[in-house]
This record gives sequence, C-alpha cells and structure tokens, in this order.
Amino acid sequence: MAASRRVGPSSYFDPARIDALDPRTAALVRRRIDVLGPAYRLFYEQPIEFVRGEGVHLYDVDGHEYLDVYNNVASLGHAHPRVTAAIAEQAGVLNTHTRYLHQGIVRYAEELLATMPPELGHVMFTCTGSEAGDLALRIAKAHTGGTGVIVTRNAYHGVTTEIAAISPSLGGLESLPPWVRWVPAPDAFRVDHAAEGFSSLGEWFAAQVQAAVDDLASHGIRLAAFVADSIFASDGVLPDPAGFLAPVHEVVARAGGLYLADEVQPGFGRTGEAMWGFQRHGTETAPFVPDLVTIGKPMGNGMPIAATVMRPEVVEAFGRDMRYFNTFGGNAVSIAAAQAVLDVVREEKLQHNALVVGASLQGMARELATRHRSIGDVRGAGLFIGIEFAVPGTDRGPYEALTLAVVNGLRRRHVLIGTAGIDNNILKVRPPIVFSQGDAERFITELDSTLSELDA
Ligand SMILES: Cc1ncc(COP(=O)(O)O)c(C=O)c1O
Repeated sequence: MAASRRVGPSSYFDPARIDALDPRTAALVRRRIDVLGPAYRLFYEQPIEFVRGEGVHLYDVDGHEYLDVYNNVASLGHAHPRVTAAIAEQAGVLNTHTRYLHQGIVRYAEELLATMPPELGHVMFTCTGSEAGDLALRIAKAHTGGTGVIVTRNAYHGVTTEIAAISPSLGGLESLPPWVRWVPAPDAFRVDHAAEGFSSLGEWFAAQVQAAVDDLASHGIRLAAFVADSIFASDGVLPDPAGFLAPVHEVVARAGGLYLADEVQPGFGRTGEAMWGFQRHGTETAPFVPDLVTIGKPMGNGMPIAATVMRPEVVEAFGRDMRYFNTFGGNAVSIAAAQAVLDVVREEKLQHNALVVGASLQGMARELATRHRSIGDVRGAGLFIGIEFAVPGTDRGPYEALTLAVVNGLRRRHVLIGTAGIDNNILKVRPPIVFSQGDAERFITELDSTLSELDA
C-alpha cells in the first residue's frame, strides 16, 4: 500500500514568489503569514483580496467582479438576504444552546429529517463537517464494537485527529493508522471493471471493499464503518454509473459495519436528481439508506453548522453510555440560518435548478471537448461536474500542468474555480446552486478562450 506523499494541489500560491506580487498584496500576504503561520494556503499564483459577495459574484478590493464557480458553501449565493435577515433577527433576540428547550431546533430537525429516508430518524448538531464525521465514528464504534474504518484512496473528510486519520488526501498513505484501510476510488474513466472480470463498477468496488474488510480481519480488527463522500469530490468527482454504491453497502452490512455517507459536498440538492447524493445510488423499489449521514458546508450558507443524521438504533449504545453536548452546535442563530437555507432551497426549487443548469453545462463542456483535445472526460450530477484533462496522444495521462494553467488563466479572466483528484487534473465545477443558464454560458465561454489561449 506504499505510495508517494502528496501535500496538496499546487494551484496554491507559492510564498517563495511573494516578491512577484503587487506591493499591496505582498504586504498583506506577509502580515498574514506572520500571524497565521505556515499551514494555511492561498488560492492562485496571484492571491485575491475579496471585500464583498452578492449572488454568484465576488468583488475584490478594487471593485472587480468575479464569477464564483467554486463555492459550495454559499450555495444560495453570497450574502443571501433571507439568510442574513434570519441570522440578524435571531441574534437580536436569543442565542442559546441545546440544554434549553427551543422551538427552532425541533422544527428544523423535523423538516430536515423529512427530506431523508424515513429510516434516518435522529439528527445531532455540530459546527463543522469534521466534527460531524468525528461524532459519527464514535457512534459507529460504540454500536459495532469494531474500530476499523475503510475510505477511498484520496478521501477528504476533515480535520480533527480522528478524521484527519481517515483523510489520505491530507498527507499520503504512509501516515494512515493501523485501523484504517484505503480502497481505490470507483473511477469509471480509469477502471476497466470488465477487464478485471467484474460485471459492473459496483461489483468491482464492492470487491475492493471486501478485500479491505478481510485484511482488517486478518489483523484482528473488526469493521466499524465504511465512509464515502457520495460524489467522491476529492477523488475526482465520480458520479456514474448511479447505483454503484449499492453492492458496497451489502458488503459493509455483512461485515457488521455501518455505512457512513459523507454528504458535506453533494448534499442539499446540488446533485440535482435528489436532495442527497446517496439517493442517486438507490431506486424507488430499493432505496439506498445509509446508517449514518454527515452534512455541513451549504447547510447554513456560510454559518458554521453541520450535523450527523442516523438510524435511531445505531445511536442507542452511544446514547446510553455517553452524553452529548456541543456548546455552539445547534445554537439558535445557526439553526435560524439553516432553516432559512432549507426554506429557500425548497421555495426556489434550487435542486431542480441544479439539475437543469447542470445538464446544460455538462452538454456545453462536452461540446468543448470536441474542439479541445486535452479534455479527456466530462462527468457530473447536477451542479457538481468534473472536467478531466488528459495529455493528448497518451492513454489518459493526467494533465496536471494544463489544469493548473487553466485555473490560473480563468482567475485572470475573473472566473473562480478549483481542482480535484489525486493528480489535480480535474476542474471541479461546483458553483452556488443558484447558478443561471447565463452564468453557465459565461463560464464555458471563458473556459473555451482560456484553452484556446493555452493552445490545448
Ligand atoms: C467531503 C467532506 N467531508 C467533510 C469535510 C469537513 O468539513 P469542515 O471543513 O466543515 O470540517 C469536508 C470539507 O471540505 C469535505 O469536503
């Protein structure tokens, strides 16, 4: 399982190049490094100082407007008036924690759970997706008596000690603790499941997970949980074929483990066909129902609120033997923001918008691929789309250098975007889900021009 260590996408600003920046930006970068230290990163060769956001646009310190094709936190758009009003109103009245009764948290929990399969009956609130994952693992360990966790090759699930330990994208595979196993990602562009003797990508993926379960067992470790981001964002955006997660769920259940669906990236309607990314992997007659679900990022449109959702039976042991209190998790102001987000997603039919605009954007990106040979693959669900670059004339050779040039080229054209995948060769198209058809066309026009400029 040895593999080389990767520290992260190199589309980040390189501090060694600080003198190449304009004096004002260089001064702020220097002051920032002085106080924040060396672990933070800045996007782009030329970092940007933003002062304002509105809808799908951000404005820099000189008043220039940028199109945000990156942000899955401000999913309703930046500074959404319904959310800011809800926050301000609640902050002006009361902000307390979950040890007092409050209507807001109960109403929100009821409405949130109503968007999930009926088997998922409880929700516990945290401030971040990392905390939600951490809590989910504690619950899974208490329920199963196991400690083993299986994740994908370039997974990212967050920053607590426990969750960083199951996030190989943070620091390579050598640093994984003995209770963690990784499996290759279910990458339909690269995995030839038929050549390996499997009838489907799902069967292939299930076999990888079974091998990891067996390896844990051979070391005396029982499975607690299989954890996967339902859209595999850090593994490169892997949505298809919908349904491929179902056989894995069976393997995990047979091994006595729990299936934890990380919905921090795809959740709240982004994938278009359903509110939650895992739902794409079930059918009407055989719905896909995880044991645990973590949600976060867009949940408060920028307010720090996240949650762990679960089948009631899996939290019995934890609830009996532990008590749970999170000072800020589920506070009245965060809940008010989350309620406003849920209301707007439903009232403005944003899941449907993600489906329609996402499909159109994918179609336009496929048309670009007929003219730009460097585009190897276009895939996605709703407004979560991956555009993969491959070196022309090679067998899908990852074209990292081009991808980074495209990211910085688009930045110069005032379009904000990032990369995905272990080789940083996939454009992660993940705008606020209020993205319009016109926004999608502007993005494609700028991408077309950037690729022409790079002769790619
Ligand atoms: C898939 C996934 N899970 C969990 C997290 C952690 O969320 P947070 O940064 O709120 O702790 C992230 C954050 O990027 C994520 O992408």
